[in-house]
Amino acid sequence: MWRIDSALDEAGAPYDRKAAGYDRLVRSRTYNRLLWKTSPDDYEAFAAAAIAEDDGPLLDVGAGSAAATAHLHAASGRPTVLVDTSRAMLERAGERIGDDAPHVSLLQADALALPLEGGFTTVLCMGLLHLFDDPAALVDALCAQAAPGGTVHVSALVAETAIGRRYLRVLHRAGEVAAPRTAAELSAALGGIELDARGSMAYASIRR
Ligand SMILES: C[S@@+](CC[C@H](N)C(=O)[O-])C[C@H]1O[C@@H](n2cnc3c(N)ncnc32)[C@H](O)[C@@H]1O
Repeated sequence: MWRIDSALDEAGAPYDRKAAGYDRLVRSRTYNRLLWKTSPDDYEAFAAAAIAEDDGPLLDVGAGSAAATAHLHAASGRPTVLVDTSRAMLERAGERIGDDAPHVSLLQADALALPLEGGFTTVLCMGLLHLFDDPAALVDALCAQAAPGGTVHVSALVAETAIGRRYLRVLHRAGEVAAPRTAAELSAALGGIELDARGSMAYASIRR
């Protein structure tokens, strides 16, 4: 049976109340196509390539409900830690991954204060950067967990399409995301790392 360890005294988190709604939307082809001009297949393929790149320890930060990644993590056999501030999201991840994946552990913790010792050959962080006012601080925290020669893979929503830009502004006004950034602005904020924007979703892989 899966269980969730906590470095946050099992505190509540904003995504606790959004977990069910997020799960409904995140894999929807219509939602992704209409609002973000992107595809759940691209998103999953990016995660699949990261998870398949190596067989060393893997850290997935802001793993959420693992809607796109649960089956990949369950099948990989890699020692894997899924981190999120939201217990409700991690519970959904645990349900999806199931009881037959002892190589996967679930940890409620803050990405900027990870109680881990690093050494991960792959660090994955999908859909989290656009929540941060200071994305470089998050990338620094992710890189600190990567083993020498390891890779940090990130994805983020960016203001690359008219409708995506408008929706990000609405979400920003509601306090859900940081101020919208284009892919070029996000790249600059991250010291010039190369981003591959597909619709409003940008992807990057950073070698340590
Ligand atoms: C947009 S969801 C992405 C979930 C998942 N990676 C995916 O792609 O479906 C963002 C997740 O990041 C989590 N989160 C937000 N701030 C965090 C932080 N400071 N540390 C760890 N997780 C955080 C939220 O609880 C939420 O589950």
